[in-house]
Amino acid sequence: MDFINVYEDSLRAESYGRLEFPGTYYLAYRDIPGILEKYAKGKKALDFGCGTGRSTRFLKNLGFEASGTDISADMIKKAEEFDPAGKYIQVTGSSIGTFDDSSFDLITAVFTFDNIPGNEKRTGLLKELGRLLSGTGIIVLVDSTPEIYVNEWLSFSTKNFPENKKTKSGDKVKIIMTDVEDKRPVEDIIWFDNDYKELFASAGLKLIETYKPLGYPTEPYNWINETTIAPWIISVLKK
Ligand SMILES: C[S@@+](CC[C@H](N)C(=O)[O-])C[C@H]1O[C@@H](n2cnc3c(N)ncnc32)[C@H](O)[C@@H]1O
Repeated sequence: MDFINVYEDSLRAESYGRLEFPGTYYLAYRDIPGILEKYAKGKKALDFGCGTGRSTRFLKNLGFEASGTDISADMIKKAEEFDPAGKYIQVTGSSIGTFDDSSFDLITAVFTFDNIPGNEKRTGLLKELGRLLSGTGIIVLVDSTPEIYVNEWLSFSTKNFPENKKTKSGDKVKIIMTDVEDKRPVEDIIWFDNDYKELFASAGLKLIETYKPLGYPTEPYNWINETTIAPWIISVLKK
């Protein structure tokens, strides 16, 4: 399948870099501090697929010594601009970079696997991430649920892509981010819950908890579907 990572693009990087945590994105990050407080032991962190560094800076603000890696030179360049003292490394699509085994207490991948096609590639990368994890370390993955691609949201629209409804596991799907200037559709890969479970098992990782955060009516957002349908899935894994 031809799949182009839409984030290898300077205009997209510029636009994404201004994003922060509006609307539906807030829900992806809202519960992370509590999850890390519960499961993370130690402060050495790697943010795989750091993009413009939003997720890496989020970890640093929580007190982690976090470095970021990304396949996109444009995204890494923006991450460095936002955090000149930080450590951001460009990696190739098939490698996670050169790090010592068991050297991280926490590895995060926030929306990264939404952009990685093919089971084999995903398994290889996840296995490699597992190798970098310390004995008590955890991996936290934040990904899109299949439902995000067939509903409307505060921060996303999919109504122009009815073809998303007919997709099967591993197919390409389109979604528009409404909080950024760049309204070109983002192309992702759709994965279902069972795909993730199989992926974790083949990468030799144990799923210890899954979260599907919903919006609360009391939050200061005009939620659309966020209070009843979860747009994100958070998976906590260990070796
Ligand atoms: C939607 S962005 C999320 C960025 C960041 N984690 C955040 O929450 O703001 C997904 C990122 O994953 C990166 N990515 C995709 N495939 C990758 C791979 N094989 N290795 C490293 N990064 C990858 C993309 O370049 C993109 O910057």
